[in-house]
Amino acid sequence: MSKVLITGITGQDGAYLAHELLAKDYEVVGAIRLGSPPKMGRLDKLGIADKVRLVPVELTDFSSASAVLRHERVDYIYNLAAQSYVAGSFEYPHLTSEINYQGLLNILEAIKIDGLECSIYQASSAEMYGDTLSDPQNEDTPFNPMSPYAVTKAAAHHLGRVYRASHGIKVSNGILFNHESELRGIGFVTRKITSELASIRECAGPAVRLGNLAAVRDWGYAPDYVHGMIMINEAKIASDYVLATNTVTSVRDFFKASAVAAGFSPVFEGDGLNERCICKNTSKLLCEVDEKYFRPSDVSYLRGDYSKIEKELGWCPTTSLETMTERMIISDIEIARSGYPPSF
Ligand code: NAP
Ligand code: GDD
Repeated sequence: MSKVLITGITGQDGAYLAHELLAKDYEVVGAIRLGSPPKMGRLDKLGIADKVRLVPVELTDFSSASAVLRHERVDYIYNLAAQSYVAGSFEYPHLTSEINYQGLLNILEAIKIDGLECSIYQASSAEMYGDTLSDPQNEDTPFNPMSPYAVTKAAAHHLGRVYRASHGIKVSNGILFNHESELRGIGFVTRKITSELASIRECAGPAVRLGNLAAVRDWGYAPDYVHGMIMINEAKIASDYVLATNTVTSVRDFFKASAVAAGFSPVFEGDGLNERCICKNTSKLLCEVDEKYFRPSDVSYLRGDYSKIEKELGWCPTTSLETMTERMIISDIEIARSGYPPSF
């Protein structure tokens, strides 16, 4: 039986990844933060909280990270732990850098020094492309990061390549475009929209307040993407791969589709800071623009070209944006009806 270590196991991707690996009979060890109780909401929701073994580790501390790796001797590592909120990285650049870059450096150094035999998957990000003129973006597109988060991810991406080339360590970077789900954190725009629309519908909650409605993303479904992560980490030859859908949607259009799925008839009117969305059947205000949600700099457009992984490993996305949106709305309506706040 192969043994796997997942850092960031309590996050969206970590939970789905653990679920798929357990179903394939892997032994799954999850790295959790030292000193605070783990957030078990997602693992509980997937019914796997008692099937994974959680080990406390401070990934930003070399001795802590290396002790765990030496002790556990895993076959595969998935390094997903990160301060993953792009907006938050402008406020907390040091924290973001420590976990997103130093965390990987500690893992790679521990593997190098102890001569450990394992394959590592590093969670790289489409955010690294930043303000790009290339459309779509692929593995050869230059990075032009526009946030401290993107800078840390680009640095970690290059670090992985350096350890692969110079120390022969089997590390692969998955350059993942945005992927969402019922388990997405409520700070990200898709889940913010579906959870707050559900609350308007079920509990007469307030209108959703959003920032840049014109931003365009390539949104896929997280369970499809964790399947791709496994294919990447288990490939014979370590390499870098884009996972994406190659289709794009604006925040405004995602809002409209979600509002329709929630039973509203959304119509946008006005522009700039005065833009808003109302339900034409009820005149209910569904969404307003709030300056507070604009970023100091924002990536306006991302669209990924996943042809390399499709050709070499046979991966392609299988879930449409429409299906994903419906699933998220249904799940958030159930949560709103329960009367409890979302547990993740
Ligand atoms: P997520 O839901 O925000 O999960 C992040 C995980 O990292 C959580 O388990 C969190 O632990 C852990 N973490 C955060 N700070 C930590 C620290 N200082 N020490 C140890 N653990 C820490 O993120 P996700 O959506 O699953 O994404 C997984 C990875 O893929 C991240 O590296 C993200 O940057 C990257 N990525 C995501 C996307 C996407 O669209 N989802 C796209 C490209 C790349 P707690 O639960 O304790 O907070
Ligand atoms: N979060 C948020 N909240 N975003 C908003 C809002 C709002 O109220 N209003 C508009 N947006 C816009 C953001 O400005 C951004 O352009 C877009 O919606 C998507 O924002 P997020 O959902 O926060 O995701 P992200 O693209 O910044 O980052 C996600 O994807 C990256 C991969 O491309 C995260 O998962 C990152 O960790 C990941 O690397």
